Amino acid sequence: MAHHLLEEEMNSPRDLSTLSITSSANTPPTLETPPPPPLDSPTPPHRSHDPTSNLKRSDPFQFGSRYLLSSDDPYEFNAWDHVETDSTYKAHAEAMYASQRASPVSAFDKTRFNTDPAKWWNKFYTNNTSNFFKDRKWLRQEFPILDALTKAQSTPAKILEVGAGAGNTAFPILAANKNPNLVLHACDFSTKAVELIRSSPAYSPQHIQASVWDIASDTLPENVHENSIDVVLLVFIFSALSPQQWRQAVRNVFRVLKPGGEVCFRDYGRGDLAQVRFRKGRWMEENFYVRGDGTRVYFFNEEELRGMWGGGMWERQQDGDGDFLQKTTTLSHSVDDAVLSSLDASSDFTQSFEIVSLGVDRRLLINRQSKVKMYRCWMQGRFQKPDAVKSPEPAVSTM
Ligand SMILES: C[S@@+](CC[C@H](N)C(=O)[O-])C[C@H]1O[C@@H](n2cnc3c(N)ncnc32)[C@H](O)[C@@H]1O
Repeated sequence: MAHHLLEEEMNSPRDLSTLSITSSANTPPTLETPPPPPLDSPTPPHRSHDPTSNLKRSDPFQFGSRYLLSSDDPYEFNAWDHVETDSTYKAHAEAMYASQRASPVSAFDKTRFNTDPAKWWNKFYTNNTSNFFKDRKWLRQEFPILDALTKAQSTPAKILEVGAGAGNTAFPILAANKNPNLVLHACDFSTKAVELIRSSPAYSPQHIQASVWDIASDTLPENVHENSIDVVLLVFIFSALSPQQWRQAVRNVFRVLKPGGEVCFRDYGRGDLAQVRFRKGRWMEENFYVRGDGTRVYFFNEEELRGMWGGGMWERQQDGDGDFLQKTTTLSHSVDDAVLSSLDASSDFTQSFEIVSLGVDRRLLINRQSKVKMYRCWMQGRFQKPDAVKSPEPAVSTM
């Protein structure tokens, strides 16, 4: 419970729109942080201690501009953006990972947590209701396509949110929606979560349809057809999957999206405080843990997500004969080989998305009283299904 709270309470993003992140499936992104403002410029409200102009620091719309300069005292404010971890912290993180690996989850518990993960999320939603996760009001700012689709003059549109939980993403979108022909399918594999969404006073069947669906299954959600969805929203859901489920999950997302449709993705990043502070008995696989309440969490890095959505990961897996390294340039050694070999090889999915943007959102949070630094790290990306989808290899005639 405390783990979740720490992970979720501050995860509204800095304004990634202040970064220029451009990329295609083949081109690495250029992630340029704009230069900090000149020192003699007037104090912006988020750096001011003056109560008359000091903006509330949890307001996501000011994130992105709190640069930590060498002349700054880091303990003067409670949050800074774009801060890389320092060498002391990196060494501390590595020491923590080594100790986590040395005391993994027992084989018995690993089976218990991986066999029926929905059971643990059902328990979670029995204990925590919609008040648990913060409403994700920043989404339309971070993902402009959501803003476009919710405008009054927009064409009819369908959004599919997977891992919708109690609706903290879905309901803020609907609250801002002016498009009379917008339908949001909110799916979750937890029946308790779906019940929470359906019982909300904001649930209006004209605009939102909640249903139970496991993204890693081989079916599609209720009333959702192939090539029918404009946007798939994935907010802190892929981290709940085991690496073995990624391929089938990406395949399902690909199937439901229209050609040209887009994935909006946000999730935990490698080295986030929530990862570093895991103690003994929580490590299941590299970067994959189980929390005290039985829910699972993975921490991604950029290269891995590029391989997963850009297709390189599946190519490399497909070519498990040894020469994959020469053929695939989108992955390198830092993607864990154990992860690759454990991916669900039964799925033959090899399609790839265009990576429109993919970036790391880093923030340094400060407990000013105890002088503790907390490094947070999230991944955010937009992935587009190509307009012209590669057709499968023609079947070889047996005649
Ligand atoms: C960390 S919560 C995020 C909830 C919501 N997206 C938000 O940001 O407030 C992860 C959610 O993913 C759901 N989930 C986990 N694995 C899933 C799966 N295989 N298929 C569908 N939903 C899943 C869980 O039940 C949970 O509601």
